[in-house]
Amino acid sequence: MEKENQTNVSEFLLLGLSIWPGQEGLLFALFLCIYLVGLLGNMLILLTIGSNHHLHIPMYFLLANLSLVDICLPSATVPKMLLNIQTQTQSISYSSCLTQMYFCMMFANMDNFLLTVMAYDRYVAICHPLHYSTIMSQHLCASLVAVPWTVATLNPLLHTLMMARLHFCSDNVIHHFFCDINSLLPLSCSDTSLNQLMVLAVIGLIFVIPSGCILASYCLIVTAVMKIPSTQGKFKAFSTCGSHLALVILFYGAITGVYMSPSSNHPTKKDSAASVIFMVIAPALNPFIYSLRNNELKTALRKVLGQRKISQ
Ligand SMILES: *[C@@H]1O[C@H](CO)[C@@H](O)[C@H](O)[C@H]1NC(C)=O
Repeated sequence: MEKENQTNVSEFLLLGLSIWPGQEGLLFALFLCIYLVGLLGNMLILLTIGSNHHLHIPMYFLLANLSLVDICLPSATVPKMLLNIQTQTQSISYSSCLTQMYFCMMFANMDNFLLTVMAYDRYVAICHPLHYSTIMSQHLCASLVAVPWTVATLNPLLHTLMMARLHFCSDNVIHHFFCDINSLLPLSCSDTSLNQLMVLAVIGLIFVIPSGCILASYCLIVTAVMKIPSTQGKFKAFSTCGSHLALVILFYGAITGVYMSPSSNHPTKKDSAASVIFMVIAPALNPFIYSLRNNELKTALRKVLGQRKISQ
């Protein structure tokens, strides 16, 4: 049994950024910049896709959903971090910490699911181009978005409720820049074995299976592309999935760095840097990776920006 007289902590200290001591001003400017650029870029993508009827096809619906998630994911951590740097505090209340954990997990899960669905979309587009519109119907696309949203809402709820049962007695120092489940669990003075088991199970289900699907899609895509006789044809086929592949590598590279490395209880500089990449930098880069490589989107973007100028 647990001790009877334990006092629960009412707040946690986020010490993630103190691994760069004396750099607060620089970090503040850097994170604010990346956050705003990402916000602007993703909003522009949402606006462009929303206002262009010929972009109302599954590929762009998925991209719009990804942009929405990429607005929300950094919004769960960066504003609090900026506020803490600005006010020179490190504290976050118990309830804010759990809320932050919930939303980080939700949007990170969603990012991961959308990248998987987008890989499937690219697979259908490249391997079954003639049947693309029948396979990727409006109906299937809507389910491929709705099911992930449901799982991404419920799964973190389970973890958060299980976390809420735990007691936190004295140790309230989180060696991370946000309330990450892997940094919170070791602080608890209750038995966390069930929670840890759930985290492992979820890493298995929610990260290994989707990344396996992405890998399978790309194996099929590469096989199909290799069969195209002309170099130009090969290049054209690959170029439609190049942006997606760049995002996948960025996202999974960083996730692997954070969650698969053995030292996650006490994150090193490397772990913090890796989570900064997938929580903050990757979401901000997504619109640029997509719009720089996609002529259709570039044209539409130019039209949106042009219209703005004219109407002003
Ligand atoms: C997300 O995808 C669904 C399903 O295709 C689509 O109806 C919806 O408009 C998309 N959301 C955004 C924000 O574009």
